[in-house]
Amino acid sequence: MASSSHHLLNLLFFVSIFFTSINDSFARPPTNICPHFDCGKGDVIRYPLWHQSQSPEHCGYQGLSLSCQGQNPVIILNNNFYKIRSINYSENSLVVSYADQIQNPNCPKIPSNLTAKLTSPVFNYTSGNKLLTFFYNCTLYPPSQQDITCFQSGTKRSFVFSAGAVPEFDWHANCESTATIPVGGAAAFDDGELLISIFARALTEGFKLTWRTTDGACQACEAADSDGFCGYSTNGTDGGQNFFCICPEGRRSISCYGDGKLFHISNLLI
Ligand SMILES: *[C@@H]1O[C@H](CO)[C@@H](O)[C@H](O)[C@H]1NC(C)=O
Ligand SMILES: *[C@@H]1O[C@H](CO)[C@@H](O)[C@H](O)[C@H]1NC(C)=O
Ligand SMILES: *[C@@H]1O[C@H](CO)[C@@H](O)[C@H](O)[C@H]1NC(C)=O
Ligand SMILES: *[C@@H]1O[C@H](CO)[C@@H](O)[C@H](O)[C@H]1NC(C)=O
Repeated sequence: MASSSHHLLNLLFFVSIFFTSINDSFARPPTNICPHFDCGKGDVIRYPLWHQSQSPEHCGYQGLSLSCQGQNPVIILNNNFYKIRSINYSENSLVVSYADQIQNPNCPKIPSNLTAKLTSPVFNYTSGNKLLTFFYNCTLYPPSQQDITCFQSGTKRSFVFSAGAVPEFDWHANCESTATIPVGGAAAFDDGELLISIFARALTEGFKLTWRTTDGACQACEAADSDGFCGYSTNGTDGGQNFFCICPEGRRSISCYGDGKLFHISNLLI
């Protein structure tokens, strides 16, 4: 009796180890198919981010390709390179820096070609950020507004506001240029005077990008009852992206437990 219950305990122990390790291997994509990488500082970068050298076939979301500049991971947004400061996989976010976009960190001016396109199929630019609006070199302005002194140029003045709290005035008619950009980090942006004193630091801290996939096939592949990982291959002739779902037993065309056709199984067994 004692020996058979011992047996049973052993069996339960074995079964629970077995399932734990299965769950672990399912919790993350297999690295032989979805390779991790780092840029030399040891911060591991992984699914759904991917290295651009993994083209024309990659495991990860569309638009989340990174590369390395020296030891820094960088991402291209609207044709500009941004250094990645940190990645948070539990909230699907990364923080990018404006360091390469601004010249004088003590009095940083946003280049007029930078104004981020604030909509993207991949990123939410607003979650975790505040939007700042700058008006540069205004010839007329409301007399009560405090300006950014480091930008003073003759009689022209420059201003910064929270995007939702721009004082009523015809700024566009009276200023040379304007830019609206997201910033994260640096705390309270509600008070105009405070904003003037902290905008440089806020820019140095960069902004947060929260990623997601809007691809229905990819969402089905990752759904809880499927537990797959999204992959794409570029179609040589028209450059289109063909979706595939990476499952424990190989690639499927839709989801791991759907009836999507299994293919390329031979080189993807894990
Ligand atoms: C924006 O302007 C800067 C400096 O003029 C330039 O280096 C950068 O390549 C430009 N970016 C784009 C996307 O045109
Ligand atoms: C990542 O995000 C989670 C959820 O918002 C948060 O609890 C955690 O502190 C973050 N990790 C880091 C390193 O910031
Ligand atoms: C971005 O995230 C915020 C906060 O989570 C949300 O209110 C907003 O609707 C999202 N925007 C888009 C375009 O998904
Ligand atoms: C304002 O205009 C001057 C030239 O009149 C220029 O040198 C300066 O860079 C401009 N400042 C800003 C913040 O755009």
